[in-house]
Amino acid sequence: MEAQRRNRLILVPCPFQGHITPMLQLGTVLQSKGFVITVAHTKFNSPNPSYYPDFKFLEMPDGLSDLNVSSKNLVSVLSGFNINCKIPLQEALTQMVKTNGHREKIGCIIYDEYMYFSNAVANHLQIPSIILSTSSAANMLTYQAIPRFLNDGYIPLKETMLMDPVPELQPLRFKDLPFSNATDSDGLLQLISEAHKTRTSSAIIWNTAECLEQSSLAQLGQGYQIPFFPIGPMHKMVPPSCCSLLEEDYKCISWLDEQMDSSVIYVSLGSIASMDEKGLVEMAWGLANSKQPFLWVVRIDSSNGRDGIKILPESFEKTVGERGYIVNWAPQKEVLAHRAVGGFWSHCGWNSTIESVSEGVPMICQSYFGDQKVNARFLSQVWGVGIQWESDLERGEVGIVIRRLMVNEEGKVIRHRAIELKEKIEISIKQGGSSSNSLIDLINHILLS
Ligand code: UDX
Repeated sequence: MEAQRRNRLILVPCPFQGHITPMLQLGTVLQSKGFVITVAHTKFNSPNPSYYPDFKFLEMPDGLSDLNVSSKNLVSVLSGFNINCKIPLQEALTQMVKTNGHREKIGCIIYDEYMYFSNAVANHLQIPSIILSTSSAANMLTYQAIPRFLNDGYIPLKETMLMDPVPELQPLRFKDLPFSNATDSDGLLQLISEAHKTRTSSAIIWNTAECLEQSSLAQLGQGYQIPFFPIGPMHKMVPPSCCSLLEEDYKCISWLDEQMDSSVIYVSLGSIASMDEKGLVEMAWGLANSKQPFLWVVRIDSSNGRDGIKILPESFEKTVGERGYIVNWAPQKEVLAHRAVGGFWSHCGWNSTIESVSEGVPMICQSYFGDQKVNARFLSQVWGVGIQWESDLERGEVGIVIRRLMVNEEGKVIRHRAIELKEKIEISIKQGGSSSNSLIDLINHILLS
């Protein structure tokens, strides 16, 4: 089905890799259905327009450029975007309507849940708006439960209850809640409550699939009056190399070409999480001890802002030789789809999670903060496609857990489940599958708004 020409959609991504990626994927999907796309982005972490020659890009002054953003100050950075970007977006869209109004209409503003100022702009201009949720439905359920936790006296969380199961949210324990280890938990709770009001938006788009989250989506749906469109995993509907803010090192693919099938453990902690120096060194020797080939992403800010590669001992490189390959940033989707990759040591960001399960790659789940803890729990306890890592990194244990996943009988069972899940996901995105049908419903929803 093709949408009418010149129906322009305004996309407002939150400027972090894990959020920009699904928004740009959504833009690519909707453009292929006939919509015209404008991406309204901050100056900070602006996407590369040359990857999207058919998109229009609109830069919003954000007042926050050149920040050293870490998980510690995300709350203030996100609040800042919501204050600083509202007027610039409103003015730019008002101008757009004046100039192009006779040739095209703005059909809808689709905004990342954390860029909620967009809803006020949409209301001001009387344009419909839709939310894109870039994390899992299970994670959103924990946010929905916050008023209940406050009411029942569970918040602030007490140290003694962290291992207890959360009522009505099994298999989560209190320690798995996204705000359980936040540095500024009050600020985070406030941000979450702002971001998770649907306001006047007409729907929520999810980068998830019913075969993964049917139960969470159904449970969540009871609390919302608006439709849900679970259309994921979107990365399976667009070309792989589309959304990276950092340069991807493709040389690792040639290295993978030389490795045996399912032999390589891929290690990456996404774009924000980092290991301290001791953890990095333990991980290095654990990889060496595992005797498995490994591809390791060590970002230039991977160890408390320092380049982790410079911290690695010289003897490590000598010990592992050709068996290990380290890059600053990998083409992750191609890596996970490579026949040589047999396991993923991950921080369990939602994008990494769905990219891995879509390829049938079993995981070692080492979550750090936020939704990663919920995802790690679902990967290991619900879908059974991962081993959860919850201790400090220690070289002996690291080597053992890698062999449990990559070599042992336990790993074979986990891999089998991962392949079954991959097959279910493939069915969802094919014509007639649940995600494919949801996409058709979403397009109709936009056209009829
Ligand atoms: C952040 C949060 O940490 C995460 O919990 C939340 O779900 C989304 O926002 P991030 O840490 O970047 O995301 O993790 P993730 O969601 O996994 O996204 C990382 C993206 O970067 C993935 O699409 C992955 O393919 C890509 N990536 C990662 C690369 O392309 N190359 C790499 O070397 C590493």
